[in-house]
Amino acid sequence: MPRLAYVNGRYIPHTEARVHVEDRGYQFADGVYEVMAILEGRLVDLDGHMARLGRSLAELRIEWPMTRAVLLLVMRELISKNAVVTGLIYIQITRGVAPRDFKFPGPKVRPSLVMTTRKVVRFATLDQIADGVAVITIPDIRWLRRDIKSVSLLPQVMGKQQAYEAGAFEAWMVDGDGMITEGCASNAWIVNAAGVLVTRHPDNLILNGITRQSLLGLATAAGLTAEIRPFSVAEAYAATEAFISSATTFALPVTRIDGRPVGCGKPGPLTRLLRASYLECVGRVRP
Ligand code: PDD
Repeated sequence: MPRLAYVNGRYIPHTEARVHVEDRGYQFADGVYEVMAILEGRLVDLDGHMARLGRSLAELRIEWPMTRAVLLLVMRELISKNAVVTGLIYIQITRGVAPRDFKFPGPKVRPSLVMTTRKVVRFATLDQIADGVAVITIPDIRWLRRDIKSVSLLPQVMGKQQAYEAGAFEAWMVDGDGMITEGCASNAWIVNAAGVLVTRHPDNLILNGITRQSLLGLATAAGLTAEIRPFSVAEAYAATEAFISSATTFALPVTRIDGRPVGCGKPGPLTRLLRASYLECVGRVRP
């Protein structure tokens, strides 16, 4: 059985999956998406991701292409058809196909729904887990509605490429006040010398990561202190630990920022604890 994609009501071989040239996702990046990990056949942080999808759609006034319940059935069907046990599912919803015109098309235009899955052998390499990854800092040049998980990702594409060319895994974006907002595809965290976790508060300037929210719950349950506030590049340089969080990285240690070692240059104990707690916790979510 070839790998299948779901495109507007049909399961199609991935190699043949297409959307129309006048899809507004292609023309205007007029759409939203979600990415969820699949571990042991289970959708990780499902409720949080579905809730955020609904919020992103509502903020852009795009209709659900089908009810949440049916969408979930289709997601599970695609995962099953593709026999994904460990991997990722991408859900992308755009405002639909219509002659190119900036303003919204009429009510007859239905949203487009595309879903793909990917098998993943390892979400992070053993080296990345044991040694941590490097990040660089770059200016945050994005729009002011970063709370919406929009498919408009050009600044992140440029930032990730810049990181890659600098030998880093991620780029942390910095606002006009010298405060780190988030990574190009992840949230940013540090642990300061007092052993306090610091991660930015969710507002319009970051995507409120679902993994981030779960990790905060686990941190509280473990009796850790967390400050939900912006932190500066200088604070990050002085941190004893740092890490990133996302659906694809969980909690991944950061051991170099702009070429400087974080703490002793090795993943720290709180990062390791949170990564282990998260993986243990999501391993127990309902199927
Ligand atoms: N990115 N911030 C940004 C800008 C992101 O793109 C992501 C996720 C996150 C973390 O959110 P979550 O924990 O809900 O995955 C934060 C996904 C993985 C992506 O675009 O591939």
